[in-house]
Amino acid sequence: MLLRMTAPFPEIRIATVDELPEVEQLLAAAALTREGLAACAQGGHLLVARADDGCLMGCVALELFETDALLRSMAVTAGGRRHGLGSALLARALDHARAAGAREAWLLTETAGSFFAARGWQPADRAAAPAGIAGSVEFMSACPSSVPAMRRAVT
Ligand SMILES: CC(C)(COP(=O)(O)OP(=O)(O)OC[C@H]1O[C@@H](n2cnc3c(N)ncnc32)[C@H](O)[C@@H]1OP(=O)(O)O)[C@@H](O)C(=O)NCCC(=O)NCCS
Repeated sequence: MLLRMTAPFPEIRIATVDELPEVEQLLAAAALTREGLAACAQGGHLLVARADDGCLMGCVALELFETDALLRSMAVTAGGRRHGLGSALLARALDHARAAGAREAWLLTETAGSFFAARGWQPADRAAAPAGIAGSVEFMSACPSSVPAMRRAVT
């Protein structure tokens, strides 16, 4: 895993529902969908990282379908990128998925395929997605069918 940020590293923790509007602003700035995010937060599957001054630096969310996890809504503020936070959020989200019983993770991305490929994700056929993943808002409506899927084992 690529981690270049040195201490102090922002703590990554489960978000409260109160933090949702701020997370939605970050996702809007990154042109990512907010559809279905409230359910992630309500389920305790939205993670955030804040700087010491309280500023939101990054976020990532999961939707869980038995042993399958959909990783979504991952963003780092424009000024905070390329310091390792995205990699740390990704690792933390996979830990969270593993602890919840997931064995495989899926995602859709139009813009960051090489970021995920460098971290063990492989291109996948959307049609091969398990039923829960295929029925998610991202797969069903929020992301056009042209947006590529990726998958990896949660080990
Ligand atoms: C993808 C993202 C979360 C990465 O965050 P980050 O904090 O910059 O990530 P890291 O610092 O851990 O990793 C940086 C590395 O990833 C690469 N990278 C970052 N964003 C990338 C992207 N969109 N596509 C390809 N590579 C990317 C950087 O070039 C850098 O590579 P290097 O290590 O070879 O120099 C961030 O760029 C972002 O918020 N993008 C907009 C939202 C998005 O596309 N989210 C993913 C889909 S859910």
